Amino acid sequence: MFETLKPAPPDAILGLSEAFVADPHPAKINLAVGVYKDESGQTPVLKCVKEAERRLLETETTKTYLGIDGLADYRRAAGELLFADAVAADRVAMVQTPGGTGGVRVVADFVAAQLPAPTVWVSNPTWENHINIFSAAGLETQTYRYLDGSKTRLDFQAMLDDLSSKPRPGDVILLHACCHNPTGVDLSTEQWGQLAGLLAERRLLPMVDFAYQGFGQGLEEDAAGLRRLLAECNELLVAGSFSKNFGLYSERVGTAAVVTADAATAVAAVSQLKRTVRANYSNPPRHGAAIVATVLADAELTALWHQELSAMRLRIAEMRRGLVAGLAAAGAERDFSFLLDQTGMFSYTGLTPMQCDQLRSQQSIYIVGSGRINVAGVTPANLDRLCEAIVSVLE
Ligand SMILES: Cc1ncc(COP(=O)(O)O)c(C=O)c1O
Repeated sequence: MFETLKPAPPDAILGLSEAFVADPHPAKINLAVGVYKDESGQTPVLKCVKEAERRLLETETTKTYLGIDGLADYRRAAGELLFADAVAADRVAMVQTPGGTGGVRVVADFVAAQLPAPTVWVSNPTWENHINIFSAAGLETQTYRYLDGSKTRLDFQAMLDDLSSKPRPGDVILLHACCHNPTGVDLSTEQWGQLAGLLAERRLLPMVDFAYQGFGQGLEEDAAGLRRLLAECNELLVAGSFSKNFGLYSERVGTAAVVTADAATAVAAVSQLKRTVRANYSNPPRHGAAIVATVLADAELTALWHQELSAMRLRIAEMRRGLVAGLAAAGAERDFSFLLDQTGMFSYTGLTPMQCDQLRSQQSIYIVGSGRINVAGVTPANLDRLCEAIVSVLE
């Protein structure tokens, strides 16, 4: 039966991580991975999470299944963080999902089942799993232009030109709420406003992937784009994640949400989301969502979370400043100040595949071939060596 089975193409980022582990260089640097690292290069458990887990250990009385849509307290808290009062709660159909990936997949399945074969338009580039997930759900994807020729800044006009002419009414437009992965290049609030008007006018359905709330400018600030869309578009899709902002990567905590024009449609949408969940994984895991719900139900733990999230955000911003100053000090002729305008964990550096290759083979510095770096992989201890190495491969 399996005679014709071929191996799947290797995952570029995982392949780099494996090569990194095998590399004996004592000062090797991994900027390829997609998780937050602190100053000492660790991906820590947040203190608010540890305390919530302690409380859960004491109070939890059962491991019975959750409902198909997950924990109600979790959904309420997640909904408040995403939407605040930008939309009436009874117009939001939401289910808890296994991570943001699960959120994207549940929304994709919902779209494939409920809408008449729309094309999903994604930015070029986008998180590569987007394309995997939509195609696994049977949806066609196309790209809209996003970056200018330097590949480090937004070409908003090109984005608008594509979205005003290429998609057909009813198509889905995937947008990263903030901290665009892989580029770090985001829209300004004004640009979100302009985009929202265009999507509403052309009857295009926004789908917002919100994987990094709080990693850009702050929890509220990062939701500004989503809220601007809601001011113009009365139907919208969202996939949310607590992997990054709570450091709950392996606990798989996310959301899939459908904003509908009225409350009755939201009831139908929840039932359809639940049908998708039932056929995929039946019901979501409890622990991570219980942690988030416990933290967000307690003022002190919420304050601690805000503090810890700010510390992560500020550390990344400091490393961005360090890189710009360090690259200039190491003699770079190129202006790297675009790194300060990009936000979140990732940045497109403008480095070519060949330069990334050289950095890996000559300096044991691991960067994805697109030139995307995880800024959180930069630490005060590796910054100088990194800047000197980058300058050594610039032409
Ligand atoms: C843009 C984007 N969406 C969704 C996700 C999914 O995150 P997770 O499934 O770990 O919550 C990620 C994670 O890297 C991401 O970068």
